[in-house]
Amino acid sequence: MKDKLEALKAEALTKLQAVNDPQILNELRVKYLGKKGELTEVLRGMGGLSAEERPVIGQVANLVRSAIEEVIGAKQELFQQQETESRLNAEKIDVTLPGRGMPQGGIHPLSRVIQEIEDIFIGMGYKVAEGPEVETDYYNFEALNLPKNHPARDMQDSFYITDDILMRTQTSPVQIRTMQAMNGEPVKVICPGKVFRRDDDDATHSFQFHQIEGLVIGRNIRMSDLKGTLQQFMKEMFGPSAGIRLRPSFFPFTEPSVEVDVSCFKCGGEGCRLCKQSGWLEILGAGMVHPNVLRMGGYDPEVYSGFAFGMGAERIAMLKYGIDDIRYFYTNDMGFVKQFKGI
Ligand code: DAH
Repeated sequence: MKDKLEALKAEALTKLQAVNDPQILNELRVKYLGKKGELTEVLRGMGGLSAEERPVIGQVANLVRSAIEEVIGAKQELFQQQETESRLNAEKIDVTLPGRGMPQGGIHPLSRVIQEIEDIFIGMGYKVAEGPEVETDYYNFEALNLPKNHPARDMQDSFYITDDILMRTQTSPVQIRTMQAMNGEPVKVICPGKVFRRDDDDATHSFQFHQIEGLVIGRNIRMSDLKGTLQQFMKEMFGPSAGIRLRPSFFPFTEPSVEVDVSCFKCGGEGCRLCKQSGWLEILGAGMVHPNVLRMGGYDPEVYSGFAFGMGAERIAMLKYGIDDIRYFYTNDMGFVKQFKGI
């Protein structure tokens, strides 16, 4: 019986040592140590032993069992370790890998200029108003003192949707819409937005561009208020040494009307290529709101007066950043837009 046990031990240990799969290990454990296993089978024969032999064989059997258990235990631990290790390997993160680049965008130079202009006027107490890009003939022309067949309409040909509906050619219709909405209350707004003209595109013309309109209405609003406001705006936009000059002009919706120039910020007024040697840059149109326009907006010209101005955002951006072709703003050339990222 002792020989049987030793043989069983030798066989079990050899097989167990060779195992490298947890499932087979478990099968072997059942085969040798299980209730119906081989060791139990051998021990079942103990009943036929003498009283002296029994404890001796019992001891041998226990040693065999613990030897087998020990090997199984060691193997289980090894498998456990191997599994942990391979899991760790699979989940390993290489923290030394360089990060993936996230390209950072920038604000488009045109948006930047519009925001800057808005900020300056908001700082002076203005509100920002917007109006529709598809307008009626009434708001775009008639209410601005440009009746049908008025010759000044020729300068602003548009894209017509019907005889009476068009893409707005200027932000000035927002003047009328704002006056009507304010219902006789004082007005102080700027109106940025897209405008459209039937022009052939070239370096300085585009069929669509952006304007920023300004409108102030109240009692005793005078030409000097217009001049002071624009002077202050130019200083904030182009630097403290910027001066302005007013030249007489014509717009149907203002009387008197002026063309406003700013002293050339590049040469300081000496004359250079940017200002075409004149020392001045033409920046915007302005004037005192025409009585007819006040009336059409619902304000009594005997009581109220006001001033208005309008400027092109592209023109200001081109002057400010030295851009020589308006088409750059719309062609999405990364080489162009990237230059303005850090400004
Ligand atoms: N709407 C004019 C244009 O597009 C610009 C302008 C001139 C606006 C004088 C005004 C103004 O408000 O007073 O040419």
